[in-house]
Amino acid sequence: MGFRLFMLLVVMFPLCFCVDAACSNRNCKLNDKCSSNGACGAGLYCFSCPFGSLGSRCVRSSITDQFKLINNSLPFNKYAFLTTHNSFAIDGEPSHTGVRRVTITNQEDSVTQQLKNGVRGLMLDTYDFDGEVWLCHSFQGQCYDFTAFEPAIDALKEIEAFLSANPAEIVTLILEDYVKTPKGLTKVFTEAGLMKFWFPVTRMPKGGGDWPLVSDMVAKNQRLLVFTSVRSKEQSEGIAYQWNYMVENQYGDGGRRAGSCPHRAESSPLDDKSKSLVLVNYFRSAPLKSITCKDNSEGLINMLQTCHGGAGNRWANYVAVDYYKRSEGGGSFKALDTLNGKLLCGCNDVHACVAGSTSQAC
Ligand SMILES: *[C@@H]1O[C@H](CO)[C@@H](O)[C@H](O)[C@H]1NC(C)=O
Repeated sequence: MGFRLFMLLVVMFPLCFCVDAACSNRNCKLNDKCSSNGACGAGLYCFSCPFGSLGSRCVRSSITDQFKLINNSLPFNKYAFLTTHNSFAIDGEPSHTGVRRVTITNQEDSVTQQLKNGVRGLMLDTYDFDGEVWLCHSFQGQCYDFTAFEPAIDALKEIEAFLSANPAEIVTLILEDYVKTPKGLTKVFTEAGLMKFWFPVTRMPKGGGDWPLVSDMVAKNQRLLVFTSVRSKEQSEGIAYQWNYMVENQYGDGGRRAGSCPHRAESSPLDDKSKSLVLVNYFRSAPLKSITCKDNSEGLINMLQTCHGGAGNRWANYVAVDYYKRSEGGGSFKALDTLNGKLLCGCNDVHACVAGSTSQAC
């Protein structure tokens, strides 16, 4: 190689490198181009939304912990929590029945990873199956070996490990409950070691009052909220009937029509203020993974605004989405920052609630 050509390459190579990757090695910021997860800074990962700006960008992968950023001294219903729809229906979950599964998925991370990234609400479908309680994706209340994901105990043990390792965090389980076995749920929660975290139904506000303070729930170690879709279990097992305490909009496609926020059949109208918690679902009836990054961005934030009006000027406490990490940048995490900002200080971003904040979001 001639000297001049060599020099040319020496000059050109770093230039080309710089143009291709202005950042690398964990220093790329939100929306920077990236080539691998390792390039993106903390709380980000490298992702390409096929319907967004072209190419791979660093997008958010974790929430802002509002308790750490602000404080946990307000009632539980003054905070918002990221919730995963069908948290157990995870890509790549191996078959536990020996039969190949033929059903859809809604998430990509393990329950443990979801919790680590700041998910605090988990929607689980519980069924009697094979003599145990299973998490299953099915129809007409019947779980089959080709629709079963895993025994519930496996996911519940992951939740137990998280609550034990994170003594200031609160997790809510919202069960679409098909378990008919008497005390079937109580048995599996006990076996998973979760009863020590149980938030008792007797402490849940009736008639629209405020919830206990988060700091008080933490001090009493009552950090697991469980809601069932079966009314009678509140009496028989002490498991809260969801719609005694929460209003909820329509799930699936019916909940995605811009400009309207109808309630799901089992729930009171959204503006019924005798229920102190508000749950907003925003996902398709049939998940479309590749387009979810778009759904979790603009569409989600617009629907939260619509449902705020529908709920009598109340912001959502729970926001349930599919493939929660998919976005064009901020996605569900940014939506949560907005909700917590609104709830905690009336600003558009929870970061603006910090004393002395210079954020423009307020
Ligand atoms: C906690 O944060 C809220 C919202 O910013 C504020 O109103 C409240 O005074 C704070 N409480 C304490 C004890 O700092």
